[in-house]
Amino acid sequence: MKVWFAASEAMPLAKTGGLADVVGALPKALAKQSVDVTVVLPKYGEIPHEIASRAELRQIVWVQMGWRSQYCGLYEVNVDGVQYLLIDNEYYFKRGHLYGYGDEAERFVFFSSAVIEALKATEEVPDVLHCHDWQTGLVPFLLRTRYANHPGLSRIKTVFTIHNLQYQGVFSRDMLQDLLAVGDDSFSPDALEFYGAASFMKAGLRFADKLTTVSPTYAQEILTETYGEKMDGVLRQRAGDLTGIVNGVDTDAYDPMRDEYLTVRYRDSVTKKRRNKLALQRELGLPEDDTVPMLGIVSRFVWQKGIDMIGEAIPELMNERLQLVVLGAGEQQLESMLRAARDRYPDRISVWFGFNEGLARRIYASSDMYLMPSRFEPCGLSQLIALRYRTVPIVRESGGLRDTVTSYNEYTGEGNGFTFGPASTHDMLYTIRRALALYQDEAVWSRILTNSAKIDYGWSTSAREYHKLYRVLVG
Ligand code: ADP
Ligand code: GLC
Repeated sequence: MKVWFAASEAMPLAKTGGLADVVGALPKALAKQSVDVTVVLPKYGEIPHEIASRAELRQIVWVQMGWRSQYCGLYEVNVDGVQYLLIDNEYYFKRGHLYGYGDEAERFVFFSSAVIEALKATEEVPDVLHCHDWQTGLVPFLLRTRYANHPGLSRIKTVFTIHNLQYQGVFSRDMLQDLLAVGDDSFSPDALEFYGAASFMKAGLRFADKLTTVSPTYAQEILTETYGEKMDGVLRQRAGDLTGIVNGVDTDAYDPMRDEYLTVRYRDSVTKKRRNKLALQRELGLPEDDTVPMLGIVSRFVWQKGIDMIGEAIPELMNERLQLVVLGAGEQQLESMLRAARDRYPDRISVWFGFNEGLARRIYASSDMYLMPSRFEPCGLSQLIALRYRTVPIVRESGGLRDTVTSYNEYTGEGNGFTFGPASTHDMLYTIRRALALYQDEAVWSRILTNSAKIDYGWSTSAREYHKLYRVLVG
């Protein structure tokens, strides 16, 4: 079976979050089940030189954008066994970062249309086209409208995966109509229309043959008003076509035994893990003491991740014996809050602003506990990476966090972490204190670590579920 992925990021080419982890790893797991995946990705300026310099121009096609025709180079490169098709147009994709520009609609209309042009230009069209998040939501729409009668394309089945329903690609109707050059009927409520504007995400939700999201719990949650981001009505209409398949972690890419960013490599050794802690304390200028519990956070600083709750909890948290190590970037207000906390407690709190792959891995490896109080979490890769690095997650029971972390139960001895229900600072603090107390009990702590070592957080089970879905579609 041949499948194409269309996505806006993929490890190790370009990454801002978990989407890149998934798009980078799932094709490898599918390949083990004889599913041949090609990943279509923008040819960003950020792609590491080592990869970009190997990419070869296969063909040039032209993409119609309203009344203009734009150059589009189709480059091919193989990365760790995964075949990539890179969409080249320097004006759109050779910029300082992946997202956040004023012409985001135009960039991703271009990308979506380029995916279709690439399909038209290929000798062997895929059986399934699997699109990820709003940036590619227009692809199923274009396939079923403008290209519905195209002989080669009509038999392609489509899957659309929601990685985060909050980001929907909503733009003015006029702008999209101009870029897409489609008729008024495309902007009816059962097509792209969204509260008077038009939405890329809705295009994916309405026009893809099957919908998935990245955990079973999130698949349920988004059917409700609380988590539905105003798309719950659309999703309820398609509930029969929606499944939740939990993400895995790339166990080759994230392996404390082989991770070159770490000071000491390890698998289960607590002693070696503590040597990483000492090294990180030195690196960050924190007091060196391998007995002090270290709480790690690697995150986008946004409301979703409950970063404000962490800020609110700092004064009380500082009554406990612990070090807090934070890495991330995001909203200015949250950044200033964390900066103030660090300045007030420089011996207890370290905050590093920005994106830093190496430091992220050293935090996962060195911390004793990993804090993730997300208000909603479609799946979450961070807690899975933490578990893989034998770091105990403390999470809010929502979405994929609920599906992957079970709270330690003192009576049965089961559980791989600590969880709390309400998104409240109080509940989070209570749970952190509970974890800190049990951390002092070596037998209990090693039991929790053993429990997490027993679970397979890799991709094989979930890749089988995707494969099954593809087979159902193809018939
Ligand atoms: P989301 O995709 O919502 O941001 P996930 O938990 O699914 O959350 O995935 C986040 C991914 O991005 C993880 O691999 C995490 O380690 C990584 N990450 C997040 N922020 C940073 C950062 N500042 N530096 C390095 N890696 C980061
Ligand atoms: C999104 C979600 C995150 C998920 C990731 C990959 O960024 O916020 O929960 O793990 O996509 O699916």
